[in-house]
Amino acid sequence: MAGLDTTHPAISDLRRAAKRRLPHFVFEYLDSATGDHEAGVKVNRQGYDALQFLPSVLHGHAKPDLRTTLLGFEFARPFGMAPVGMSGLIWPDAERLLAAEAQHLRIPYCLSTVATQVPERVGPVAGDMGWFQLYPPAKREVARDMLKRAKDSGFQAAIMTVDVPADSRRERQRRANLTIPPKITPAMVWSMLTHPRWSLGTLRTGRPSLKLAEDYAQGSGTADYMNHPGKAIRGYPDWDDLKAVREDWDGPLIVKGVLRPEDAARLKEEGVDAVWVSNHSARQFEGGPSALSTLAPIRAVVGPDYPLIFDSGIDGGLDIIRALNQGADFVFLGRAWHFALAGLGPEGVRHLNHILTEDLITNLAMLGAHNLLDVRGLTPFKKDLVPSRV
Ligand SMILES: Cc1cc2nc3c(=O)[nH]c(=O)nc-3n(C[C@H](O)[C@H](O)[C@H](O)COP(=O)(O)O)c2cc1C
Repeated sequence: MAGLDTTHPAISDLRRAAKRRLPHFVFEYLDSATGDHEAGVKVNRQGYDALQFLPSVLHGHAKPDLRTTLLGFEFARPFGMAPVGMSGLIWPDAERLLAAEAQHLRIPYCLSTVATQVPERVGPVAGDMGWFQLYPPAKREVARDMLKRAKDSGFQAAIMTVDVPADSRRERQRRANLTIPPKITPAMVWSMLTHPRWSLGTLRTGRPSLKLAEDYAQGSGTADYMNHPGKAIRGYPDWDDLKAVREDWDGPLIVKGVLRPEDAARLKEEGVDAVWVSNHSARQFEGGPSALSTLAPIRAVVGPDYPLIFDSGIDGGLDIIRALNQGADFVFLGRAWHFALAGLGPEGVRHLNHILTEDLITNLAMLGAHNLLDVRGLTPFKKDLVPSRV
């Protein structure tokens, strides 16, 4: 990895590489948040930067074990690949390429309901590292069938995402003229011609579309099917829908997109096995606090042993440490894996794993932590805790 360590030492380098290789409308789809100023992205970043620690000295040579057990599964690292809709638009065959890398790295891969591949094509590649993400469709029998297909394809856990009660405006994405499925404009044709690696790959794998949703939308008779099969089947879930999903999935059930402590407490009561704290990286709502700052209050209400997962704007190993310190048991990244794949191919995905691993180990050593669990007990730095005169 020496070469990539020099040319691409950080996630920002992977992002730049992806930007170079992707048509503009594709990059904007992957990278944009909601709101004209995308304030939520900055707030998320500020939340991480504001959580500081004092390094601790004379702890010898720490060789931390990064293996993590969550929901009875063992993973090689405390991080995984979050569900990303239309992943195969971002890079040809992305779902299967990422799932294969996740299997190789022994970290979880989440397949979105609105992926460009059906569970049957991805499950065997993900092996025992696959989780299936559900946007519950309006019809319960459709949700039930999707879950059954996921289970039959080998997916180990189900994630119900609850933070998309409406489509967000995502102004930057709109300016790039992205519709799902993409409507081809002259500017897009130009952009595709000038990004041949993406275009030739897409020609080879075929026009990306919402394959799973299409299987159900055809019979729905919904007028806008031709525009968007995801819309044709979409539901607007409430607590009764959660109960239904709980009944229809007998494996580990995770609910993703939670920020309020009272919601987390109720989800626990309803028999959900883990809560996934996330603000969707500010792609849905830009008026909230940093995602990181919501973790500790949620940990306080669900108790010390209830599994909490976290994502939104993680940019390296130190951010992972911050999330674990605030109460997360495990974290996910969404965009970064796609920057890595689009920018450098599968080798980039392995390189991102290396960046996160090395950054985690280095920062654990700086903090005098010999393993991941030590991180929970660290007291973040506060000005008034430091003696003003020694
Ligand atoms: C392009 C894109 C598409 C996404 N699609 C989904 C999705 O289909 N289902 C879902 O639960 N979350 C989706 N997410 C949210 C991610 O799962 C995750 O919460 C978020 O990307 C984490 O933040 P990060 O990208 O800063 O790591 C999407 C995110 C992106 C960037």
